[in-house]
Amino acid sequence: MDEKVTVISHPLIQHKLAIIRDKNTGSKDFRELLSEVAMLMCYEVTRNFQLEDVEIETPICKMTAKMLTGKKVAIVPILRAGLGMVDGMLKLIPAAKVGHIGLYRDPETLKPVEYYCKLPLDIEEREVIITDPMLATGGSAVDAITLLKEKGAKNIKLMCLISAPEGIKAVREMHPDVEIFVAHIDEKLNDHGYIVPGLGDAGDRIFGTK
Ligand code: PRP
Ligand code: URA
Repeated sequence: MDEKVTVISHPLIQHKLAIIRDKNTGSKDFRELLSEVAMLMCYEVTRNFQLEDVEIETPICKMTAKMLTGKKVAIVPILRAGLGMVDGMLKLIPAAKVGHIGLYRDPETLKPVEYYCKLPLDIEEREVIITDPMLATGGSAVDAITLLKEKGAKNIKLMCLISAPEGIKAVREMHPDVEIFVAHIDEKLNDHGYIVPGLGDAGDRIFGTK
């Protein structure tokens, strides 16, 4: 697998992912687990954030400790399902700002349709982490990244729970600069563009709609 694609196969994530996938898992547990997995994934997604030396004083003595440089972060969920990953991320990066991109997949064409975009004003200065549990054909992620680049974003990472190989390929081809983080790459897409085995419709499972 290429260096821009990271599969985060930590046992805790894989365990929680199995419960998330299970069709008998209801919305409450689905939401809680998705949020927990997002927090665990965030740990890996931020692995290369830079540190700087800071002088502090412990109760014992002075020391030079490490803290994050003033790098600014924006978390950008793709609505609706991406919202389910925001809380977990904010637990680890509480100072992050949150932008929103509204896209839905037309069920006939499977092409994404944009209906909302609100981003932090200084998006071009921020490290952007897009969240969406599902990377299926990749159409939504590709369009979200294009939109963010049009608004000036330069440093973009994409964080998804499950992807199909097709989605990874599409993002790699259209946006080779974007790093992709996923918890699992599944087998394929079915005729309706759903990930197999996947978890079904992520938005519906989070919000209890159908
Ligand atoms: C789902 C999912 C992604 C998209 C993935 O959203 O959350 O955004 O489909 O499919 P793609 O890779 O083929 O574009 P959906 O369009 O169902 O909207 P929702 O989150 O509002 O339910
Ligand atoms: N969107 C979903 O919510 N699930 C899929 O499997 C594909 C797209």
